[in-house]
Amino acid sequence: MTSGVVPWREAWQQALYADNGFFRTSRPAEHFRTSVHVQAFAGAIAELVRRIDPPMVVDLGAGGGELLTALLPLVSDDVELVGVEVADCPDDLSPSISWLPSLPEHVGGLLIANEWLDTIPCDVVEVDDAGVVRELLVDPSTGAETLGDPYDSAWLRDWWPMTEPGQRAEVGDARDAAWADAVSRVRGMAIAIDYGHTRGDRPPFGSLRSYAEGRELDVVPDGSRDVTAHVAVDSAAAAAGSTLVRQRDALRRLGLDGSRPPLELAHSDPAAYVRGLSAAGEAAELLARGGLGDFWWLVTDTLGHGTLNP
Ligand SMILES: C[S@@+](CC[C@H](N)C(=O)[O-])C[C@H]1O[C@@H](n2cnc3c(N)ncnc32)[C@H](O)[C@@H]1O
Repeated sequence: MTSGVVPWREAWQQALYADNGFFRTSRPAEHFRTSVHVQAFAGAIAELVRRIDPPMVVDLGAGGGELLTALLPLVSDDVELVGVEVADCPDDLSPSISWLPSLPEHVGGLLIANEWLDTIPCDVVEVDDAGVVRELLVDPSTGAETLGDPYDSAWLRDWWPMTEPGQRAEVGDARDAAWADAVSRVRGMAIAIDYGHTRGDRPPFGSLRSYAEGRELDVVPDGSRDVTAHVAVDSAAAAAGSTLVRQRDALRRLGLDGSRPPLELAHSDPAAYVRGLSAAGEAAELLARGGLGDFWWLVTDTLGHGTLNP
């Protein structure tokens, strides 16, 4: 191996989760907006909680605790709220919310993991000029890449076969294993929510990206920025017996509606009209095609609630 370069997965792991890693030294909300930053998302999850009545809601990859904080006033006091997060507990988190560094062995209730799978580091591979798939190595300080040894894995052959020189992939087996492990702990409902692709629409050159402070940056695993890649959601779903649902469909089934309030309301109750407009704007953001509405929900329902079925 060329000195100074390491396999992508190792560099990615260090960049995000070492002591000085990106998610240890800053909160996701300082850098990007996700569904949990939209109040209406918590409203939809609260509706799910009302329907399936779980004793506990666990937010895996809880960031700054935004989802649980928004849920707290919307669900019954009997529901235990637990954030699972490698970063420290936020100083201002309500004492009614528990905070754990790793998933408990058993989760009885509802597990939500929003934009967690995309932050699980993967091997990254590329097809060389001779058509051989090779592991990609990277210099963590610059992001400069080097082709490494030939790479073969059952996952790649099954889920993301490549033959054309220059094609790249992020190998999803570590994510599949992580999701299967999380789901195996749950008695109730487990939902991972993420941007992703399926066999028919894999990105030919992969989807490795970096973001910080709201902007896309060069991909460099140096801890100063996020490193992420879209999730092969079909393989992760298969690994954990999950059903795939687009976010726009899941949220509509939970009653989210992006339509504007009737104009007459502006005259009869202007305050309600303004509230209705704001709610419609939030719903539209969560349901949008080409945006958050395209996200995938990976749903495993071990108790057969069926509440997210069409
Ligand atoms: C992209 S952020 C999403 C945060 C939040 N769920 C949201 O939607 O805004 C991913 C979060 O998952 C956390 N994380 C990653 N792997 C984890 C693990 N194994 N256990 C707990 N937290 C983890 C990271 O520290 C980070 O805060």
